[in-house]
This record gives sequence, C-alpha cells and structure tokens, in this order.
Amino acid sequence: MQLKQLRLHRFRSYAQLALMPPAGLTVFVGENGAGKTNLLEAVHLCCLGRSHRTSNDQDMIQVGADTAAVHATVQRGPLTDEVGVRLFQQQRQKKLIYVGGKTVPRIGELMGHMTCVMFSPEDLEIIKGGPQLRRRFVDMMLSQCLPGYFYALQHYNAVLKQRNALLKMIAREGADARQLNVWDEQLAAASPPLVRARRQAAARLGELAGQHYAYIGGRPEETLAVRYQGSLAESETIDADHLQALARSREDDLRRLTTAHGPHRDDLLFTLSGQELRSFASQGQIRTAVLSLRLAEIDILTQAQGDAPLLLLDDVLSELDLGRRARLLSGLQHVQTLLTCTDLGEVEDLSPACVLRVKPGEILQ
Ligand SMILES: Nc1ncnc2c1ncn2[C@@H]1O[C@H](COP(=O)(O)OP(=O)(O)OP(=O)(O)O)[C@@H](O)[C@H]1O
Ligand SMILES: [Mg+2]
Repeated sequence: MQLKQLRLHRFRSYAQLALMPPAGLTVFVGENGAGKTNLLEAVHLCCLGRSHRTSNDQDMIQVGADTAAVHATVQRGPLTDEVGVRLFQQQRQKKLIYVGGKTVPRIGELMGHMTCVMFSPEDLEIIKGGPQLRRRFVDMMLSQCLPGYFYALQHYNAVLKQRNALLKMIAREGADARQLNVWDEQLAAASPPLVRARRQAAARLGELAGQHYAYIGGRPEETLAVRYQGSLAESETIDADHLQALARSREDDLRRLTTAHGPHRDDLLFTLSGQELRSFASQGQIRTAVLSLRLAEIDILTQAQGDAPLLLLDDVLSELDLGRRARLLSGLQHVQTLLTCTDLGEVEDLSPACVLRVKPGEILQ
C-alpha cells in the first residue's frame, strides 16, 4: 500500500498542509514539539478513525478552529482509494468519515481501506501498562484486518453498557433483577466472535513475534511467548459458558455494579523464556518485545490484506542499539515508511528516499 497524498486542514499545529510521500522511507526531522508526531497521528486517524495517543478527538483540532480535517489518497495495486475524517469542536456534532469522496454513516466502514502500524515510544505501555492497553492493541489490529470485528466489538460494548446501567438501576432504584436475563443472553451471544478472533490473534502474534524477537534480539536462548488470558480463553462453548459465568456472578455484579466476566476483562500475557515480561525483563528486552509485536502485526495485516500496511516509526530508532536497529530495518525494505527523528545522525546509514524538515506549522524540503 502506498500513501500518495496526505492533506491536513486545521489539524494540530498545521493550518494547511499537503504532502506527497514517495515509496520507501521518508524521514521527518525536527526539534521537539515541531509537529512530527502530529503528522503520523493524522495518518493513523485516516486508518482507524481515531488518534493513537488521545481518546479525545477535539485535542486534534487546531486551537481556535471549529473543525479539522485530514484526507489521504492511497494506492493499493491498481486501485486508488480516498479516505478522510472531519472533526468538530462542538461535542454534539459527530465526526464525519469519508470513503471514496462520500461520507459513510459508520466509522467501521473506514477500516481496512488504509492500514498502518505505528511504532511509538508509548508502546512500552502495551507490556508495562494495564490490560486495557493490551486489549486496545489487539482490538485495533483486528479491526484493521478482520472485516466485521469492529462491529462485533461495538455491539458487545453497547450491550455491556446496558447491562451495567441496569445493575445500577436494580441496586439504586429497586428495578426487577429478572430483567438482567435478557442482557445476560445478549452479552453471552455477543462474546464468541471476540473470543475466537482474539484467541487466534494471540496464537499468531505469539508465533510471529517469537520469531522476530529471536532475530532482532540476537539471543536464541530467549524465547518470547504470548498467551491469551480471560475467563473464556479456553472455552469451547463460549456463549453457554459466558451465560453461566454471568449467572454465577450476578450477586457479586449487583454488589459491585459492574460485570465481572467476559472479553472486556481479557488480557494478554507476555513471557520471555517462561518468565513474565513486565516484572522480569529489562527495559531493552521490553523494547525489543514491543518491536517484535509490531512486526508481527505487520505480518498479520499484510497477510490479511495481500498488501503491506504503512509503517509509522515515531522516534523509536534512537532507543535501539545498532545491531537491533539494523536487524529491524533490514526486514522493512518493501514497506512504505514514515519515520520521525530529532537528529539526522540517527538515520545516516538508511538512505531515505526523502528527508523533510518539520518546523512548527510547516514542512520544508
Ligand atoms: N490542537 C492543537 N492546536 C495547535 N497546536 C497544537 C495542537 N496540539 C498540539 N499542538 C502543537 O504541536 C506540537 C507538538 O507536536 P508533536 O507532538 O508532533 O511534536 P514532535 O515534533 O513529535 O515533538 P517530539 O520530538 O517532542 O516528539 C506542540 O508544540 C503543540 O504546541
Ligand atoms: Mg513526537
């Protein structure tokens, strides 16, 4: 896949910008705060309809503007595709999603037209942070490569919200607890597509990330493994087991006013040679593990789409030793890559197709 053109309007530090990155590697160099990550964020927004670093869309609108827009043109084989997102400062105005020049009613329709894998310094949190970050990682990957996954997730979350709201109404207003039966059934019916997809994703990620780790880490005795954890992780009859678990925990749920069982509590466990990574590994080992995971994500998306995703490398090279860097980049020759750095010394040996200087609000050749 190739990003042919990116256009920004009132997006973060950019009032107006058009970029036409060539195939291969484009380097964005600039001081801290110049606006490098903003560019990668704009690409991410076109792929997934949301930022990789904030859950508040309004943050991306330029200060003082009412609306911001990002549009991208991508080439996939012989096909040219256009996607875009428009954001509004007013909370009640929903963001607009464009595909092929027309607005589409649902954000799920955006996904899969343009795909990306982002490497950013915050990725370490996938391993070190809470389980919701690991779920988000898997969910974003699956939303990009598995048609229908995003809708299944949205549906599950909507039902979960209803069940939790009812738990509160029962506890606070004495509503009839039997009403929960309907939501238990719906929630249990919504979980199998998520559990199956995540189970398969964890297995693939484990296999592929394990291989990448062995290569980049350069230490064959260290093996990275990924395991899917959740109350339904091993279940063969997911909906029936989920329904039973919901019934068993109903009393507890009513006391805690939240739903204890289901894929919304899933987690991924990362181990290095059998030891849990987050509590055991060094900073460098965690960094290598995260890169391996992202590389596995590229493999999975490439396989699903028949075309490599765009690669967004935000400030990650300087953190790696030379050997790891060289091994990382040797595998990425065929992928269009947008890379940011603060110092061109970091990319001296990479022979980029294009180097662009980023200054607040503008980009110079
Ligand atoms: N909504 C906004 N409106 C206007 N400017 C913004 C907005 N959001 C962020 N900025 C500006 O963008 C800049 C940050 O941009 P960005 O995160 O892309 O920097 P960077 O080049 O990646 O820096 P670093 O090297 O530190 O990562 C900040 O200086 C901030 O002033
Ligand atoms: Mg940055």
